[in-house]
Amino acid sequence: MKLPTTVRLVDVGPRDGLQNEKQPVSAEVKIGLVHRLQDAGLKEIEVTSFVSPKWVPQMADNAEVMHGIQRKPGVGYSVLTPNMKGFEAAIAAPREEWPDEIVVFGAASEAFSQKNINCSIAESIERFAPVVAAALEKGIRVRGAMSCTVGCPYEGEIAPAKVGYLAQLMKGIGVQRVDVADTIGVGTPRKVQAAMEATLAHFDVDAISGHFHDTYGQALVNTLAALELGVWNFQSSSAGLGGCPYAKGATGNVATEDVVYMLHGMGIETGIDLDRLIDAGVYISEALGREPNSRASKAIRTKRAG
Ligand code: HMG
Ligand code: MG
Repeated sequence: MKLPTTVRLVDVGPRDGLQNEKQPVSAEVKIGLVHRLQDAGLKEIEVTSFVSPKWVPQMADNAEVMHGIQRKPGVGYSVLTPNMKGFEAAIAAPREEWPDEIVVFGAASEAFSQKNINCSIAESIERFAPVVAAALEKGIRVRGAMSCTVGCPYEGEIAPAKVGYLAQLMKGIGVQRVDVADTIGVGTPRKVQAAMEATLAHFDVDAISGHFHDTYGQALVNTLAALELGVWNFQSSSAGLGGCPYAKGATGNVATEDVVYMLHGMGIETGIDLDRLIDAGVYISEALGREPNSRASKAIRTKRAG
């Protein structure tokens, strides 16, 4: 199959990346990261999540961060909302501070659903349904994240049929597009393609994105495997930040820098300025007191230093 010529990346670093940080990260730094990402050409940024601060303390400043960002025309800003309480908090601010898109997040694994959002898959869909309806009614787009589509930290390997089942439920409540997530980064190309194919039975290829964590170093090949199916939307974190607090041992998302380097090398357009993106990754990494977790960033910075 002919590969897509353009790819749209959602940088999920400010949310997926930072949610797992044990050290405090100020709202100012998070806002600074969002600004640098949009200046680097990212057209979609997952900014924060309106979840329980008891469950994810790092995202407790959600409203402050949404208030503080200076929006750039043409950029979409998304937030996670697991229930009506989260959705209401996300739209408690004036209209111009509302997210452009909300994300409901479910799992293909029952055990992960329980650990992450404290309910079964069926209950999660019941909770999401009014959130999706309320968002669409207000003109806010809706994405559905599907966790553990290849493997689960509690249940092990996940059958594609379970992914298809969740995708069908998401479609049924009006979710407009879905993320096929390898939450713990155990996937390999054929398994990722099987999860994608199960999702393709319910969603158009344009409405599917790949969300790969890089725990086993497979995220780039999995990205290529998804591209081979025509998928052209992906999620990644600048500087390879992240992990999920309810998926122990899982490392960050694939680094946006590495994905952009690969795509540009293949002649696929992203609209992203890799140099500025690298600087955004350095900014957040310095704030966290460590090196960016991106091989492309390291190589390019070494070359810059000459
Ligand atoms: P629960 O305890 O079952 O909720 O948590 P509850 O409805 O029984 O309420 C309990 C308390 O939480 C109450 O407060 C509520 O008001 C409060 P209390 O009366 O005890 O003081 N509460 C909230 N507070 C703020 N915002 C809310 C909210 N909802 C209830 N929205 C809940 C259920 C879903 C809230 C909880 O499990 C939770 O917050 N989970 C979030 C977990 C999370 O954020 N995980 C990481 C994101 S998912 C991810 O990273 C995967 C992804 O990247 C894709 C991939 O890689 O797989 C997306
Ligand atoms: Mg994730």
